[in-house]
Amino acid sequence: MGALLVKRILGQAAMLFGRSFSQKSIMSLKNILLKTAVPGPKSLALMARRRSAVARGPFHGTPVFVDHAHGALITDVDGNILIDLAAGIGVVNTGHTPEKLVNAIKTQADKLLHGSFNVTPYESYVALCEKLNEKTPGTFAKKSFLANSGAEAVENGIKIARAYTGRPAVIAFEHAFHGRTFMAMTLTAKEKPYKTGFTPFNSDVHRAPFPYSYRGVSAEQAFTAFTALAATVGPDKIAAVIIEPVLGEGGFLPAPKEFLTNLSSFCAKNGIVLIADEIQCGFGRTGTLFASEQLHFTPDLILTAKGLGGGLPISAVTGRAEMMDAPIEGGIGGTFGGNPVAVAAALAVLGMFEDKTLLTRAQQLGRSVFKTLQGWKQRHAVIGEVRGLGPMLAIELVRDRTTKDPFAEGAKALVKFCYERGVVLMTAGSHGNCVRLLFPLVITDEQLAEAFDIVEDGLKSLKP
Ligand SMILES: Cc1ncc(COP(=O)(O)O)c(C=O)c1O
Repeated sequence: MGALLVKRILGQAAMLFGRSFSQKSIMSLKNILLKTAVPGPKSLALMARRRSAVARGPFHGTPVFVDHAHGALITDVDGNILIDLAAGIGVVNTGHTPEKLVNAIKTQADKLLHGSFNVTPYESYVALCEKLNEKTPGTFAKKSFLANSGAEAVENGIKIARAYTGRPAVIAFEHAFHGRTFMAMTLTAKEKPYKTGFTPFNSDVHRAPFPYSYRGVSAEQAFTAFTALAATVGPDKIAAVIIEPVLGEGGFLPAPKEFLTNLSSFCAKNGIVLIADEIQCGFGRTGTLFASEQLHFTPDLILTAKGLGGGLPISAVTGRAEMMDAPIEGGIGGTFGGNPVAVAAALAVLGMFEDKTLLTRAQQLGRSVFKTLQGWKQRHAVIGEVRGLGPMLAIELVRDRTTKDPFAEGAKALVKFCYERGVVLMTAGSHGNCVRLLFPLVITDEQLAEAFDIVEDGLKSLKP
């Protein structure tokens, strides 16, 4: 341990000498290995190519080009090994390139790459829908529909709700993120950067407060505001209410159980389709397959993507059979939705969750990491709140605990501090002042401890 620390200090000192430092390894821990400053020369050269060839729009949380990744470790093009606490925005919950998943993809790739379910259907699409119908919350008759991305699941969820109810309006929540296509973007709360320059948005989308006790919005206040908004819109005009049971981009806020119960009763009473967007909080991220399970929440429709494919693009809408059957034949579909290779990946992911080891481990990680973050909060005044559900945890940074002034620059600086030392992290929150943990659930204790030492060093370095 002492030797490791010395090595790390030497390594960090070496980084101060800049990119020209020519030692073989400038930092070597048990998992992290830095051969160059991060980003290294090859990443920098690729970034220059990227700037001239790729549109400005897509952002990079970590300006490092990846070569390959396994488990919770990413190797970049310069040969640096980084610990991944972002999982490609909560996608590789089952780890990078797990053998079972990769083998399922390879086997399927040899058999059928594409048929289009709209042209010549194939059994695996049906099998995945059966599994989703079985595993998602609710004991009622269910059906599923497969698409390619989270945003596409959102679009289809709203189409299904409108077709079922024959009503126009949709209620979404403050701090929500539902994606980047037009309806999904309209439902998304944050203007910059997600909506800047893209007006006009879709009509008949209304926004209610999300319970955020740290910033003065209780579950009770939020529900009162919701009912007032619903009364203004007209309950018989509302097709759907869409909510993330745990806000993702919005800052890892779990919706209180009583709020979800009230929302469910209101929607059931008024014939409104209640949609849970579990695109980020689903697929084991919170320690159960779906966050809704822990929140005792049974939505009418549930949207999944990200972790569903374990790294391949696939999404799904699953829900009450009579609602799912509302669009007419040909009314929903697409060329690639439920692509056979992506379906094989999703079936492999579901298979990996079937054995409860991964979820048990995720729950254990949730408990131990929460304790670690609480410890950080005691030691570092920049942390205003620690929150989340299971291992889906975040810290909210503030300049001052009394004023709760959001410390977005701190979150950004922490992410930079960490990637320069071999840890990949992401920010979150409407103010950009949260740092979220989305590590692959297969991460080892040793990898986490190594990464967390660096994150805590970063917290110490912040000057509010
Ligand atoms: C909760 C939630 N919904 C929808 C989306 C959109 O998913 P995609 O980026 O796959 O379109 C995201 C993506 O981050 C998300 O977190």
